[in-house]
Amino acid sequence: MRVAFVGKGGSGKTTMSALFTRYIAARGAPVVAIDADINQHLGMVLGVEQTPTPMGAHLAEIKEYLRGDNPRISSAEAMVKTTPPGRGSRLLKISEATDPIHQRFSVTTPEGPGLMVTGPFDEDDLGVACYHSKTGAVEMYLNHLVDGPGEYVVVDMTAGAESFASGMFTRFDMTFLVAEPTRQGVGVYRQYRDYSAEFDVPIAVVGNKVQGPEDVEFLKGHVGDDLLVWFEHSRAVRALEQGRPFGLDDLEPANSAALAVLLSHLDAQQKDWEKFGRQAVEFHLRNAAAWANRAVGEDLSAQVDPAFAFGPPKPQAQPVPPPSASTDTKPPVHASVAP
Ligand SMILES: Nc1ncnc2c1ncn2[C@@H]1O[C@H](COP(=O)(O)OP(=O)(O)O)[C@@H](O)[C@H]1O
Ligand SMILES: [Mg+2]
Repeated sequence: MRVAFVGKGGSGKTTMSALFTRYIAARGAPVVAIDADINQHLGMVLGVEQTPTPMGAHLAEIKEYLRGDNPRISSAEAMVKTTPPGRGSRLLKISEATDPIHQRFSVTTPEGPGLMVTGPFDEDDLGVACYHSKTGAVEMYLNHLVDGPGEYVVVDMTAGAESFASGMFTRFDMTFLVAEPTRQGVGVYRQYRDYSAEFDVPIAVVGNKVQGPEDVEFLKGHVGDDLLVWFEHSRAVRALEQGRPFGLDDLEPANSAALAVLLSHLDAQQKDWEKFGRQAVEFHLRNAAAWANRAVGEDLSAQVDPAFAFGPPKPQAQPVPPPSASTDTKPPVHASVAP
């Protein structure tokens, strides 16, 4: 299952992403956290000393691996962030993260989760149609990832035009929109909700830094039933931010309960690989027409492999066992005999 935390800068995306990642890991499930936020500090909140190799600085290498021997992708240069996998592409798994992508770009954080990062952003990265976009690395990762129930990717993400233009926002089973109980806080919600509705993207609002019942009323008044749960202003989070020791057990009971709500809500989502694949193709075709064909100098719509099925391989039909295990070469005797 994949989840994104989006919202305004300062709303608490990184904090929520980190707490949720730790919460999942504490339950023994495999989880990879990805920092795709403008201010890269998910690693710090997850307690890593050494920043992982940034994916955004190694796009060509990622492309080269993922394209495998997919004949529709002529070279790494011809692969753009929306290029969907096809037959021959290499797919990724969370529970068997032994592939070169996880090996090279993921570090293990003290509590077990993996961490990958896009790397710091520069101005170009925030453009709508950037060929070298760093979040493109995450989009490619998500497009090539085959995740099952009970394994998780948590993405800490900026809610910007970038994710809408590329289709990144459709790559998740659930998007948690972190909102402070302020007018600015709920402002991002409307934009996101409108985009999401058009593409049938499930979103839920997670209130943060709530200090009292008026804050909850404010959030309900603005986002209505989309408000899933809220986190209170947390002294434990403040301690974490001040570099004092922090464990999930230090979290206030209401905030721990909120983490449980997030997980059960995510787990309750139905995976829809058909929709996932359809939207991957749809956004690739848009992207190709908008700028990528021109940038690459090829018709990138030809990269779409109509016979490729997204998601885990379908279970093979049980082979019919041979009539007998002996080496008997006589033709099989049929049960029906002429009267
Ligand atoms: N529930 C909370 N209680 C107390 N402080 C919080 C809470 N959520 C976030 N913060 C603090 O607010 C600041 C911004 O949070 P952060 O997660 O970095 O936001 P974002 O990633 O959305 O920019 C940080 O200093 C963080 O520690
Ligand atoms: Mg952040």
